[in-house]
Amino acid sequence: MSTDKKIVVLISGNGSNLQALIDQSGEQRYRVSGVVCNRPSAFGLQRAARAGIPSAIVEHGAFPDRAAFDATLLAAVDRFQADFIVLAGFMRILGAAFIRAKPGAILNIHPSLLPKYPGMNTHRRVLAAGDSEHGVSIHFVNEELDGGPIIARSRITVGEEDSEESLAGRLHRLEYHLYPQVVGWLAAGRLQLRENAVYFDNAKLPATGIEHPAPT
Ligand code: GAR
Repeated sequence: MSTDKKIVVLISGNGSNLQALIDQSGEQRYRVSGVVCNRPSAFGLQRAARAGIPSAIVEHGAFPDRAAFDATLLAAVDRFQADFIVLAGFMRILGAAFIRAKPGAILNIHPSLLPKYPGMNTHRRVLAAGDSEHGVSIHFVNEELDGGPIIARSRITVGEEDSEESLAGRLHRLEYHLYPQVVGWLAAGRLQLRENAVYFDNAKLPATGIEHPAPT
C-alpha cells in the first residue's frame, strides 16, 4: 500500500495548476485525494473527474456569512482525509477558524514576488509600476492575505512587449514547475512552519524563501 502523503486541492477556476499537481504526483510522491471548489462551472472539476479524483462543491454564495462558508468548506476538506491543503487558484479568503484548524498545513501559490503585490491584478500592477521583474511565490497560509511565510519564489524578466496576458502565460510555466516540487518537499517532511518561519531540511530559510530557477 502507498504511504504517500495525501493532499486536497482547493480551486475556483481553470485548474491548470491542479493539472500540474496531478500530473507530477507520482514523481513527487504525494497523492491528490480530493478537490474542493467554490464554483460549480469551474473547468478544474472536469480535470479532477478525468483523473478519477473525487470532488466537492461548496458554493460561497449559498452561505449567509464567511463563518458558515468556512465551516462547510472545512468539513468538505476533512472528508478527503488529507495531510495537507493546497490552494491552487482558490479565489476566496479563508477565515481564521479554518486557518487555525490546520496549522502549518495550508499552502498557497500567488502570482507575484511576495511581499510585493498581495491581492488581485498582479500583472497589471507590475506593468503599471514599470517593474523589470515579476514572478510567483509559494507560501504557508496564515491570517494575513497573501502574507504567510514564503517558501519559494521563481522569477522572470519583464519585457517591453509583455502584456497582462503574456505575463500570466509566462508565470503559469513557472507555477507548473514550482508548485508540484514544493508540495513534494512538504509531503517528504522536508518543509516545516515553526514560529512563523519556514525550515527546509531543518535550516531556517530567509524571509524571501528559496530562489527557484525558472524552467529552461
Ligand atoms: C494561478 O496563476 C495562481 O497563481 C493564481 O490564480 C491562477 C489560477 O490558475 N492565484 C491567485 O491569484 C491567488 N491569489 P489555474 O486555475 O489555471 O491554476
